[in-house]
Amino acid sequence: MEPFRLVVMISGFGSNLQAILDACADGRLPARVALVVSNRKEAYGLVRAQRAGVPTLYFPLKPYREQGLDRTVYDRDLAEQIRPFRPDLIVLAGWMHVLSPAFLDCFPGRVINLHPALPGMFPGTNAIRRAYEAYRRGEISYSGCMVHLVTPEVDAGPVLAQAIVPILPEDTLETFEARMHEAEHRLIVEGIRRALAGLAQEA
Ligand code: GAR
Repeated sequence: MEPFRLVVMISGFGSNLQAILDACADGRLPARVALVVSNRKEAYGLVRAQRAGVPTLYFPLKPYREQGLDRTVYDRDLAEQIRPFRPDLIVLAGWMHVLSPAFLDCFPGRVINLHPALPGMFPGTNAIRRAYEAYRRGEISYSGCMVHLVTPEVDAGPVLAQAIVPILPEDTLETFEARMHEAEHRLIVEGIRRALAGLAQEA
C-alpha cells in the first residue's frame, strides 16, 4: 500500500515536524511528508524540511493584508496551493494562524492540530506559559497537550489523542516547557496514527 501523504503546516521551530519526519523515516507512521507549509519565512522548520528532501511552500499573509484582502481569500488561495499535493491528512504542528471554513471545507475531516493544553484549557497563543502561571496561582495542578480535528473554533474540535503533563513545584517555565515538548513529540505521532487509522477504515 502507498504511504499516506501528509502536509505539515508550521510557523516556527518545527520540533514537532521533526518528530513527524523521524516517525515516517523509521516506519512508526505509514506515511510520508509531501509538503511543509510555513507562513513565516524564518521558520526553522523550513530548514528541517529541506534537509529531509521535502518540498516547502512559504505562504505569507502580509501581501494579502497590504492589499486589504479578506483573510478568507488567503485561506482559499492557500488551499489551492496545497491541493495538488493531494494530502490524505493536513497536520497543523505549530501553525499559528486560524484557518477559516474557506480552507477547512476544501479538506473536510482531514485537518488536525496539535495544541499544548488539554481540551477546553488555554486556547490560543502562549498556552504553556499561561498554564504555568495558572499553576503558580494555585488554579490548576497539571496541564497537558492534545491532538484534535480542526473546526473553525480556535484550538477546539473532536479530540484524537491527549496526554497529561504534570507541573512540579520545582519547575521553572523552561523545565515545564521542555517536558511539554517531549510529550508533544510523542503525542503528535500517536494523533496522526489514529487519524490515519480512521481514514483507512473509511476507505
Ligand atoms: C508547539 O508547542 C505546539 O503545540 C504549539 O506551537 C508549538 C510549536 O513548536 N501550537 C500552538 O500553540 C497552537 N495553538 P514546534 O515549532 O517546535 O513544533
